[in-house]
Amino acid sequence: MSKLDTSTESAVLEPGGDQPMPGSKKVHLRTFGCQMNVYDSERISESLAAYGYVETETADDADLVILNTCHIREKAAEKVYSELGRIRQTKDARRAEGRQTLVAVAGCVAQAEGAEIVARAPVVDLVIGPQSYHRLPELLFRAKSESRSIVETQFPDEDKFSKLPKRDRPRAASAFLTIQEGCDKFCTFCVVPYTRGIEYSRPVAAILAEAKQLVSRGVSEITLLGQNVNAYHGEAEAGGNATLAMLIGRLGEIDGVERLRYTTSHPRDMGDDLIAAHASEPKLMPYLHLPFQSGSDRILAAMNRKHTAADYVALIAKIRRVRPDIALSTDIIVGFPGETERDFEATLGLVEQIGFAHAYSFRYSARPGTPAANMADQVPEAVAVHRLHTLQRLLDKHQTRFNADCVGRTIPVLFERSGRRDGQLIGRSPYLQPVHAFADHGMLGRILPVEILGSGPNSLSGVVRAA
Ligand code: SAH
Ligand code: SF4
Ligand code: F3S
Repeated sequence: MSKLDTSTESAVLEPGGDQPMPGSKKVHLRTFGCQMNVYDSERISESLAAYGYVETETADDADLVILNTCHIREKAAEKVYSELGRIRQTKDARRAEGRQTLVAVAGCVAQAEGAEIVARAPVVDLVIGPQSYHRLPELLFRAKSESRSIVETQFPDEDKFSKLPKRDRPRAASAFLTIQEGCDKFCTFCVVPYTRGIEYSRPVAAILAEAKQLVSRGVSEITLLGQNVNAYHGEAEAGGNATLAMLIGRLGEIDGVERLRYTTSHPRDMGDDLIAAHASEPKLMPYLHLPFQSGSDRILAAMNRKHTAADYVALIAKIRRVRPDIALSTDIIVGFPGETERDFEATLGLVEQIGFAHAYSFRYSARPGTPAANMADQVPEAVAVHRLHTLQRLLDKHQTRFNADCVGRTIPVLFERSGRRDGQLIGRSPYLQPVHAFADHGMLGRILPVEILGSGPNSLSGVVRAA
C-alpha cells in the first residue's frame, strides 16, 4: 500500500522542472454531483491547462485521471469506488505498456473520507478537498516525484479563487460562477457543512472581474452558485457587506450580461430586497429554485430546517405577488426518519398547493456522521421507494402542465448548443426549460423570440420569429 502524507506544508513547483509542453499531457476529468462541482471542474481543467494538460474523453489515453466526487447520498459516494476499480485496471494496462497514470480524487468524497480513500483504493495518488484546488498542480507534482499518495483535506484560510487562473477560455453562452461556498445550517440529513466547510462569500469586486472575463469570452448568461447562495454577504466594493440582490444589481450593469440566475437558495435567507429584485431587475430570470424538503412541520423541525410549511407558502405568495409568472423549482426528501403516511401526505399537499415547474426529489439516504443517521424510526426502503414514486408522478404532472401552458406564447430563447437533428438548436427559455427550434448555426449564443408550438414533460419546441 502507498505511504500516506497528510501534511499541508507547501512544496514549490520547480520552474521548468517537470512541466510538460502544452498539449503533451492528457487529463480525463469526471464530474459527479452538483453545479458547484461542474464549476470546480472547469477551474481545475483551466489550472491544469497552464501545465500543458488537455482534456480527453477516455481514461485509456489519460496521463492523469481526476474524479470530482459527490458525497450527498450513499449511491453517489459508492459510485466513486466502482469507478476507481475500473481505473485501476486501466492504470495496470497502461503500466504494462510503460505508461504512467496519476489518479486523483477531488470533491466532497475526498473531503469527507480523506485517507480512507487511499486505504480502500490504493490506486489513488492524490486526495484533494474542494478548498485546495489552487494547490492541485503542485500536489500532483509531489505525488509523482515522491511516488507516494498525498491526502490534502485541510480547510486553508487562503481564498482559493484568487489563486486559480483567469477564466480565459472561449465558452458557451451560459456559464456558472461560484460566489459563495459552504454552509453553517446543519440540516440533520446533510453532509455539505462537513464537506464544504463554513459559509464563505467572495468579494463583489472579484465576482465582477470574473463575470467580465466570462463575457469577454462569449458568455451572456451567468448562473451564480452557492450551497446557500442567497445567504451571500461578500465584501462590497465600498466596504461593508453586500447582499445577493446588491450583487445582482451590479452584475446587471455589465454590458453583455443578458441573463442572471442563482442557485441554491434557502427559504430562511430569501430577503425582501432579493424578492424585489425579481420585479426590478430585468436581467434576473423568472426562475427560483427554493428547496422545501418536506411539507410536514414535525419533519421540518427534525430536519433542523427552521421554517414551517406555512412560512414557505407565505414566502411563495410574496414572490408571486412581485413576479406572477415565476417558475418555481424545489428539492424534496421522502422517507426521512420518523416520516409517517400523514407527514408524506403533507408533502404531497404542499406540492399540490404550490404547483412547481420543476423539482428534484430524493429518497432519504442516511449519511454517516450526520444527526439524522442515528435517529430512531428509519423508514423501510420499500415504503420510501413507494412514496418517492407517488411524489414523482405528481411532480411530473405539474411539470408537464407548466410546459403545456407555454404553448402559443412567444418567448425569448438563448440558444446554447446544436440539437440531435440536422439544423436544430437547443436553448433555454427564461423559465429554464430546454427549447428545440430549427435555426441557423450562427444563432448560437443569441437570444431570439421563439413561438412555442409544442411541449412535453421535459422540453418545448417552436419556431424562431423575426426579432
Ligand atoms: N443547500 C441546499 C441543498 C444542497 S444539497 C438547500 O439547503 O436546500 C441538494 C439536495 O440534496 C437537498 O436539497 C436535499 O433535498 C438533497 N439531500 C441532501 N442530503 C440528502 C440525504 N442525506 N438524503 C437524501 N437527499 C439529500
Ligand atoms: Fe445541506 Fe442545504 Fe441544509 Fe446546508 S442548508 S445543511 S447545504 S441542505
Ligand atoms: Fe455533492 Fe458536494 Fe455538491 S456533496 S451535491 S458535490 S456540494
